[in-house]
Amino acid sequence: MPVINNTVSLTHLLSMENLSTEEVMGLIKRGLEFKSGKVNCDSQEKYVTSNLFFENSTRTHKSFEIAEKKLGCQVIDFNADTSSVNKGETLYDTILTMSAIGVDICVVRHPQVDYYKELIESPTIKSSIVNGGDGSGQHPSQCLLDLMTIYEEFGYFEGLKIAIAGDLSHSRVAKSNMQILKRLGVKLYFSGPESWYSPEFEEYGQYVMLEDILDELDVLMLLRVQHERHNGTAGFSKEEYHQKFGLTQAAYQHLKDSAIIMHPAPVNRDVEIADCLVESEKSRIVAQMENGVYVRMAIIEAVLNGRKKVLPVA
Ligand code: CP
Repeated sequence: MPVINNTVSLTHLLSMENLSTEEVMGLIKRGLEFKSGKVNCDSQEKYVTSNLFFENSTRTHKSFEIAEKKLGCQVIDFNADTSSVNKGETLYDTILTMSAIGVDICVVRHPQVDYYKELIESPTIKSSIVNGGDGSGQHPSQCLLDLMTIYEEFGYFEGLKIAIAGDLSHSRVAKSNMQILKRLGVKLYFSGPESWYSPEFEEYGQYVMLEDILDELDVLMLLRVQHERHNGTAGFSKEEYHQKFGLTQAAYQHLKDSAIIMHPAPVNRDVEIADCLVESEKSRIVAQMENGVYVRMAIIEAVLNGRKKVLPVA
């Protein structure tokens, strides 16, 4: 596969809608270059990053931290529970402070949809913002690692048949992915409880029962049931949900030999996917976690490229 020089340059990374197709492909290919280990890049030790997570996270938080350290950035620790957030400090004031003390990039996860709007409109805040997830809004770095995983597997997007299945209406992963997958020429399907499906998804793909499409799919992208945003499993018991909407061992047998299974994780085992299938031959769930580091290196590098244009290093 040919590799390209990374020419992507971003001011912030907020939503997949803000990225051109060329920028998306540039970030994916740069992530693959980083993964190949054949790339030389300058150490970014003059730059300071901080990862500010106001919602729980394992993968996004820690893989951004590793990505920043691999690039040589100075990473400033932030823990919302021991910060002045507990004294009433607002998100705006936390980021204003980070900007004032010299943090170049703030990676932020926050439960409020579009939390970043007031931050990027501020004339005082100079830090770049990378969205690590805004409520049920967007999750662009997850989307980019998903795209990198699909591209690494198939080498193209056009014409692939992909189903996004599960908690569609509460999932920021689904929203980021459906927009860009449509733009990349994927034939998209949606599946899951009807109460978690919204007519606004119709412009991106077709609602189907999973069993009707399983043997045609190239990618089955399962979604986590977002227990923190609602109660229960759409009126079904966990076992009923698994049998009706999840990937059971029996359903796995209907997938094509070349098909892959994805899930952003954390996984609710035996709900979205049978426990024994999480690390199965067709599963790319662990590869997604690994690719998250490399695509986040590409994201941080692209934002630093953007800052170097505006603020040349002394
Ligand atoms: N997929 C994902 O965003 O995982 P975390 O919540 O652990 O970051």
